[in-house]
Amino acid sequence: MTRDKFLEGMSRAAATVNIVTTDGPAGKAGATVSAMSSVSADSARPSLLVCVNKNSYSADIIRENKRFCVNVLRDTQAWVSDGFAGRAGVEDKFTIGTWHKTGLGSWELENAVVTFDCELVEEVLYGSHYIFIGEVETANVSESGPTLVYSNRSYGSSVPLGAASASHRVHAEGQDIETVSIGCYSSLAPFLIPRVIADYQNVDANVDIKVYEGNQDQLIHHLGVREADMLLTYQFEVPDWWTKSIVVAELPPYVLLPALHPLANQDEISLSELVDEPMVLLDSVPSRNYFLSLFADKGLTPNIAYRSPSYEMVRSMVGNGLGYTILATKPASPVAVDGRLTVARPLKDDCQTTKVVLVTDTSREISEKAQEVHAYLIEQLANAEDLLH
Ligand SMILES: Cc1cc2nc3c(=O)[nH]c(=O)nc-3n(C[C@H](O)[C@H](O)[C@H](O)COP(=O)(O)O)c2cc1C
Repeated sequence: MTRDKFLEGMSRAAATVNIVTTDGPAGKAGATVSAMSSVSADSARPSLLVCVNKNSYSADIIRENKRFCVNVLRDTQAWVSDGFAGRAGVEDKFTIGTWHKTGLGSWELENAVVTFDCELVEEVLYGSHYIFIGEVETANVSESGPTLVYSNRSYGSSVPLGAASASHRVHAEGQDIETVSIGCYSSLAPFLIPRVIADYQNVDANVDIKVYEGNQDQLIHHLGVREADMLLTYQFEVPDWWTKSIVVAELPPYVLLPALHPLANQDEISLSELVDEPMVLLDSVPSRNYFLSLFADKGLTPNIAYRSPSYEMVRSMVGNGLGYTILATKPASPVAVDGRLTVARPLKDDCQTTKVVLVTDTSREISEKAQEVHAYLIEQLANAEDLLH
């Protein structure tokens, strides 16, 4: 095992970003540290550890002061992290952010998600780092909100997995409304869902259809945690437990070109004719892998010029001549949102189609109202191919 391989591997792990501060007879110091972990909630006082490089300015000051405070940053505080990692080039790091003295005499950051004011009870020098174990005297828990995380050598946010956006009806208080939730793949939703919501009001006005829009991972999460009663999505990259899925449409992939592209004069286009042209890839799970697999199945690798997770962005890029794309759903109009014209052409090759499926979780019962919506969808989506293509 090489050092580089270890560092590369560790870069994939995710950690919170913390500022460890100290103050006392040895002076004041603070450093950004991602190596922080809980040790035990059942020690004399709850305990945690931080690993601090022995060559850092802070290490010896913490050792001498025998106290430190761990400030866990929120996702709006990456600039404080950079500052305390020495990247801001300021003389006094404590001018970055607003700091208050803790009970034990270290410093805590205003609006950190939580601060742990610790007494240093153990230090172990292991290799290049001190492992400092602290017993927590006080934990100051602030308003909850996303925590700053560090992974893949960049900052991120601890937004919950299922953070797909949900659209739902706003209704007057006191109305006896039952909610039925449908998770729908983002690029499919505008084709199917508004019509379902509008029509279902005539079927049962007391049902509020709440819609979670998201990518496949988010939808799986919503079904798994029972926030969604059913899903409308593509039959790709699906987990084993998706036994109960009903195919509502089967779509052949097609090519979308800028209106003035020379290939737009052809009735059909083959993948081999496209392979060297710049491609705009719809970069969302599972669309991305499906479109790439069409080329891979023919032993081809497309020339990807742009990627976007947004369906409308991809269409606008195509409309502006930045490349072609391959899509499965076809809007009613060939005009992109910015007014640029695109041209859709079928693929000459025999390609794997895309199946749109209605999925429920077989391991649980859904409410009676949800069953009614499910039955309605099966009936109404019999013509889904017309809506989608
Ligand atoms: C996201 C991030 C995480 C870091 N994690 C650690 C860590 O766990 N331990 C450590 O010793 N240094 C870590 N560093 C580096 C220190 O913050 C950096 O060496 C800093 O300059 C130390 O400050 P000091 O010398 O004033 O004590 C990290 C830096 C960043 C940006």
